[in-house]
Amino acid sequence: MAELHPDNPYAKDRFADPSKAVEFPPEARKRFEHILTRYPSKEAALLPTLHLAQETWGWISPETVHYVSELLDLSPANVFGVVSFYNMYNQKPVGKYHLQVCTNLSCMINRAYDIYEGLCEKLHVKPGGTTPDGLYTVTEVECLGSCGTAPVVQINNDYHENMSVEEMDALLPKLK
Ligand code: FES
Repeated sequence: MAELHPDNPYAKDRFADPSKAVEFPPEARKRFEHILTRYPSKEAALLPTLHLAQETWGWISPETVHYVSELLDLSPANVFGVVSFYNMYNQKPVGKYHLQVCTNLSCMINRAYDIYEGLCEKLHVKPGGTTPDGLYTVTEVECLGSCGTAPVVQINNDYHENMSVEEMDALLPKLK
């Protein structure tokens, strides 16, 4: 039988490996307990808990999906459904700097693809790829909701608006 592509939700490596189980470190656990006090139900705390998990581990692994589902009394399928719906949750490890280039309409007509392809070329990565030193990941994303200041590049949690190829070139060496 043919192997499933790793991006397929039913591929083997998308299931939690019990030998890689995760647990919030004490500080994150304290923040999680605080999050719970701010929502009427455990399920309502899912998005902030996933944000906390991503801040803690940099991405949402299958083991994290399993852990969060146990913490919030939800099924792993329920949690995975949310993780795979929002592209703000990384389903794969990313570099120290996650360069997310919006290529939707407003950004596209303002040369977003020149920025995106330029980054891939300069960093020698394929679309969605990470440099071997783990410093940069370049991803194409859907509308970042800032169309009036297109083109937009989100780097980790920060928006860089009205970007240009030249400005991206100037910014890149500062990200070390
Ligand atoms: S199209 Fe790029 S922010 Fe909306």
